[in-house]
Amino acid sequence: MHRPSLDLLKKFVIGNWKMYLGYRESIDLAFELENKINFVHDSLRVVICPSFPVLSAIRPVLKDLYLGAQDAGFESAGAYTGQISIKMLKEIGCAYVILGHSERRKFFKESDEMINDKIKMALDSMVTPIVCVGETAPERQAGRAQFIVGRQLERCLAGVQLAGVQHLLIAYEPVWAIGTGLACAPEDAISMHQYIRRALRDYFSDFTLRNRIWIIYGGSVDRGNFLSYLQDPHIDGVLIGGA
Ligand code: PGA
Repeated sequence: MHRPSLDLLKKFVIGNWKMYLGYRESIDLAFELENKINFVHDSLRVVICPSFPVLSAIRPVLKDLYLGAQDAGFESAGAYTGQISIKMLKEIGCAYVILGHSERRKFFKESDEMINDKIKMALDSMVTPIVCVGETAPERQAGRAQFIVGRQLERCLAGVQLAGVQHLLIAYEPVWAIGTGLACAPEDAISMHQYIRRALRDYFSDFTLRNRIWIIYGGSVDRGNFLSYLQDPHIDGVLIGGA
């Protein structure tokens, strides 16, 4: 069992399995990854985010890898048919949760305000949120990418505070790059990461930014290009879906 401490941690590799796999396939893949990645360097944390029904079956399989969920409800408990509480995710061993993914925004009409509630709920439960932000193709073409991402950050992070061992990941995921094979050029990703880091200064202290927040890139990351993101000092990791 080799689990790097957060102080040493520099980069994240996060797998968003979406709804691609069945129950058995998910467990098999978790086994395979855990065996393949049998040594994780201290400076790297690998998180897998399978579908809800398989999370508790996968948890015992994991030694070096961490477990995350792909979404969570915005209330802690109650009459919310179909929702899954962060509390339950925490109980079954999830350390991370993806929130505000563009597919949730698009298909399930999630608003920044809803995502804001979920982030607070996750932090209260000591589950680290991976908050997705990103512009659409027309927004980028209109030169509004930074404005859109800045507004998402402002709304999603309203009233969010980090203390003690609470951490936060921001995933810059341009909508046009997700699942399209059109990865954002590393220089464009870097410039958005720099913008996000500057924007976060409005909400968090320099200490918090340095020690409690990671900004990662996602969108058509694959075997061929992942190092060009991972190796850059401005990019704290990658969020990988289809690949
Ligand atoms: P992709 O998805 O790697 O398939 O583009 C990334 C994501 O949706 O998180």
